[in-house]
Amino acid sequence: MSTAATRVPLVVDCDTGIDDSLALLYAAASPEVELVAATCVAGNVDARQVAENTRAVLALAGREDVEVALGREVPLVRPLRTTPETHGLRGIGWAELPPARAPLSARHAADLIVAEARRRPGAVTLVTIGPLTNLAVAVLREPELPRLLRRLVLMGGSYRSAGNTAPTTEWNVTVDPEAARIVFTAFGAPEVVAAREAAGLAGRPLALGLDVTERAKMLPRHLAALAGRAGDDPAAAEARVRSAAAPAPANPVVRYLTDALRFYMEFHSRNDGFYGAFVHDPLALAAALDPALVRSEPLAVDVELGGTLTTGETVADWRRTWQRPANLDVGVEVDGAAFFERFVERVGGLAADRAAVSS
Ligand code: BDR
Ligand code: CA
Repeated sequence: MSTAATRVPLVVDCDTGIDDSLALLYAAASPEVELVAATCVAGNVDARQVAENTRAVLALAGREDVEVALGREVPLVRPLRTTPETHGLRGIGWAELPPARAPLSARHAADLIVAEARRRPGAVTLVTIGPLTNLAVAVLREPELPRLLRRLVLMGGSYRSAGNTAPTTEWNVTVDPEAARIVFTAFGAPEVVAAREAAGLAGRPLALGLDVTERAKMLPRHLAALAGRAGDDPAAAEARVRSAAAPAPANPVVRYLTDALRFYMEFHSRNDGFYGAFVHDPLALAAALDPALVRSEPLAVDVELGGTLTTGETVADWRRTWQRPANLDVGVEVDGAAFFERFVERVGGLAADRAAVSS
């Protein structure tokens, strides 16, 4: 059993976003986690809306105590692009949540990341599930940051599979490719990797791209199972994630999930040929807590910044043609069934607890 002393201090840098909200719920539902803070970056929606969504989702989880900090509101050098067609105008699909009541932190996201890493050297796990803008700013402010974190896990890139933004590029890297390059270079520097390994820490960041996250397809039946775990009606939850005409589930967490995910599943149905959704971000969160969920390979990776068709591509040297040391551990296989089982158990359990509180 996890105690206060053994829990993993976790900071989540997010651009909430539907699948980001699932990652936040998963973090809040995980007994081995001490959720230190959520830091907000512009991406799926603008950064202020991200901060609103993040606080509203944490309130839904009963975690209004978690510090939420606003970060960079634009990428390092490029104009911001957002994706309302994927996540809805406000970033939470068709769901409605009460306005956030908890105040925003007075700290800037990048300062928070640096301060928490310095406060507990070698202890804090950072998971990034949005563009890498905040983390790039943080490492420019504190070059020792890669040595101070216990672990960095990032959702971003498409290393051997097709992109989801341009033919070869993934969203989080495409929005701010300069930031991604700064992070990949600083965290994967050979002297940093060697120092971390000498200290008994994972040497390289774990990068989970579309190669693995698109193997985790959430389907209506997963929502039904989660509703059942929460003590709600599985058939009603499955009906609601398929159609707005079905009655809303009674459990507030299940209701949120069905309404948010209906939008995301409609998007995937139009674009990817199945009624379901890739849930990139909770998969990354789960793998940060249990790296055994994925198999990875050490690779040298760089980011294309000057392409005419490929800007934002994560170029991975699979055949070692560059003869450069690996700077990332890139996820290549995932145990999707184990992940969904855990997601249903944990977030369904959280939903059951929230129903008990609100009844
Ligand atoms: C990533 O892009 C965003 O739209 C999702 O939230 C996820 O972090 C997947 O490419
Ligand atoms: Ca995201």
